[in-house]
Amino acid sequence: MRFPKNFLWGAATAAAQIEGAWDEDGRTPSIWDMMPEGKIKRGENCHSACDHYHRWKEDVAIMKELGLQAYRFSISWSRVIPRRGEVNKKGLAFYRNLVDALTEAGIEPMITLFHADLPVWASEAGGWSNQETAEAFSEYTAVVVEELSDKVKYWFTMNEPQCFAADELELNPGKEICGVTKTILLAHGKAVTAIRKYAKQPAKIGLVIMGLSMEPIEGVMDEKAAAEVTFSEQMGSMGMQWWMDPMILGKAPEAMRDVLSEEDMEVICQPLDLFAGNVYFPANYADIPGGINPLSVPGMPKSLLEWPIRPRCMYYFAKFVWERYHLPVLFTENGFSGVDFVMMDGKVHDSQREDFMHRYLLEVGKAAEEGIPILGYLYWSLLDNFEWFHGYDIRFGLVHVDYQTQKRTIKDSAYFYKKIIESNGEIL
Ligand code: BGC
Repeated sequence: MRFPKNFLWGAATAAAQIEGAWDEDGRTPSIWDMMPEGKIKRGENCHSACDHYHRWKEDVAIMKELGLQAYRFSISWSRVIPRRGEVNKKGLAFYRNLVDALTEAGIEPMITLFHADLPVWASEAGGWSNQETAEAFSEYTAVVVEELSDKVKYWFTMNEPQCFAADELELNPGKEICGVTKTILLAHGKAVTAIRKYAKQPAKIGLVIMGLSMEPIEGVMDEKAAAEVTFSEQMGSMGMQWWMDPMILGKAPEAMRDVLSEEDMEVICQPLDLFAGNVYFPANYADIPGGINPLSVPGMPKSLLEWPIRPRCMYYFAKFVWERYHLPVLFTENGFSGVDFVMMDGKVHDSQREDFMHRYLLEVGKAAEEGIPILGYLYWSLLDNFEWFHGYDIRFGLVHVDYQTQKRTIKDSAYFYKKIIESNGEIL
């Protein structure tokens, strides 16, 4: 299969899921460090995670060995800004060293400014239902961009607002989606403005959305209808249009029309350079009012998280968002969760992940061959890591992590990915 010449092959992680060192060198806790008891499986927490804060050199060496060309990671807001208005030099130094090592290794650093780990200080001040949080986010953005933009070109304001907005509502009964959405949209817009203002080189900016698109099925829904449903009001705040229409098209969803003023829209709607999406499976037909799910059959192929294996979602995501937003597409996450373990020969034979990657990448390639501009593919995740409410059992990594010893073992799928990268996808 042919992929575009400058296609970027990489992997992604997020701070709360890998860094650990939750209370070191001046960092203050995020909401994930302080999750109420009973929320996370078996009472696990992310206080140590993969200990990447201390092992980042080894992790960069692994990325280099695998031939990764890009690495998307997130910054822990409370490591850099431990309290409103205070900058933590040691926290910034950690990311400075990481960025230097990545560029030295020939790996393009891509930064997500916010990946779910709201500082406790911001949460206590009202979190995403307090508009001040948008202002605080843009102050933090300015600090990070000022420090790292000499070497960092790719910036993502946030990861999956659908998910962290939903978490905020679940953890704080009484809050409502429109108020939370407004602050998040404003925070995004202000952050984009701050990146453009402080960046030391032309920046490529996006927001990482959870890329839920409908999959056409013969006799059930044709392609045109699938695209329409993908961007319809019925997808609510889990849909892409709820967030991306205001940001890119300057158009508010119906439910938000009275909440967003014209001035708000001017802040929110800032030019973006790419459309970044995390894509794992198609939207569920059962979520459509009155719908049944023809994709769900007994014994269907799925991952450990019970996510259906439906590779065509990659193709339709790319096609639908390109037709609607006309921005080049970057797959910022896609991956397979399994029960990988180190086998008797000391290796991790994760052939299901290889097959998954192969199938999903063929669909990416197909979209690219049809002329949709696709910038790259970042596998989720570089390392097995802390899978939020599920704790540590669910393994997505190219690299196995033994959480007792922190030993890293490169899985078979990572060596397969290395060959894919070396051939720019031709072996697929
Ligand atoms: C998130 C990651 C998460 C992954 C697997 C994405 O929704 O951005 O943080 O680990 O999916 O659940």
